[in-house]
Amino acid sequence: MGRLNGRVAIVTGGAKGIGRHYSQALAAEGARLMIADIADGKDAADEIARDYGANSVASMVVDVSDEAAVQALVGRAMERFGKIDILVNNAALFAPLQETKCTEIEAAMWDRVMAVNLRGPFLMVKHVAPQMMAQGYGKIINIGSGSIFHGIPWMLHYVTSKGGIMAMTRVLALELGEHGIRVNTLSPGLTMSETLMAQNPGHVATARDRVVAARSLKRDEQPQDLLGALVFLASADSDFMTGQNILIDGGNSNT
Ligand SMILES: NC(=O)c1ccc[n+]([C@@H]2O[C@H](COP(=O)([O-])OP(=O)(O)OC[C@H]3O[C@@H](n4cnc5c(N)ncnc54)[C@H](O)[C@@H]3O)[C@@H](O)[C@H]2O)c1
Repeated sequence: MGRLNGRVAIVTGGAKGIGRHYSQALAAEGARLMIADIADGKDAADEIARDYGANSVASMVVDVSDEAAVQALVGRAMERFGKIDILVNNAALFAPLQETKCTEIEAAMWDRVMAVNLRGPFLMVKHVAPQMMAQGYGKIINIGSGSIFHGIPWMLHYVTSKGGIMAMTRVLALELGEHGIRVNTLSPGLTMSETLMAQNPGHVATARDRVVAARSLKRDEQPQDLLGALVFLASADSDFMTGQNILIDGGNSNT
């Protein structure tokens, strides 16, 4: 019996990279899910449908920074699955972001990073939380980043946005607790996602050896390293936990 049998999840950014692994892990534990991504999630959904049945999954192309698109997504998920128990706010601008000095980041790029990485999760919560309130239960997992604890150079926009995620989690936990909604952050360290490796060899080359050397556990982090904590935060096992951060980075930072 899966730990998420009967649960329904939305995974933003669930079509590719680490999000695709999150989608598979939730389905493997019995959750039905909606994959929401600006990229087409059909492949990821087909794979899950093959393994867990056509009724277990749907996908939708959505820009999480667009409120009308987020509303349409929530409407579609409710229509298809009848409820939403778990929201994984994973979509972000990360893998394609080139390292750029703080003096050279274009203001438009700064705004876009904030729009996807902060406005996106806010809009998702704004429209998903009412459904969770109606059922008196919910699990929101905001994907943060270990980079906020030690900083990384040439990624000011990205690291700043992830600092906002941590603050957002704390406020939401306070506001939504009375409705039975738990809100936590899951923070990965530098992780060798397929998208990061393919889209940003420059950042991998600059950061990989430095990060591994700084860890207590001296190896690359893989998407699979995050899945146990993700399922824990999505499941009833963590029902008395809210407003917290789980950092999975091989001991790079101690929080
Ligand atoms: N890989 C790492 O080293 C690492 C480390 C710490 C945190 N993270 C975080 O983990 C998450 C996944 O990272 P990843 O390595 O898979 O990178 P990624 O950039 O491939 O993942 C982002 C996902 O979000 C989607 N997306 C981008 N813009 C969107 C939008 N406007 N609307 C909807 N979807 C959108 C992308 O298509 C992609 O599927 C991100 O939140 C990232 O910040 C990654």
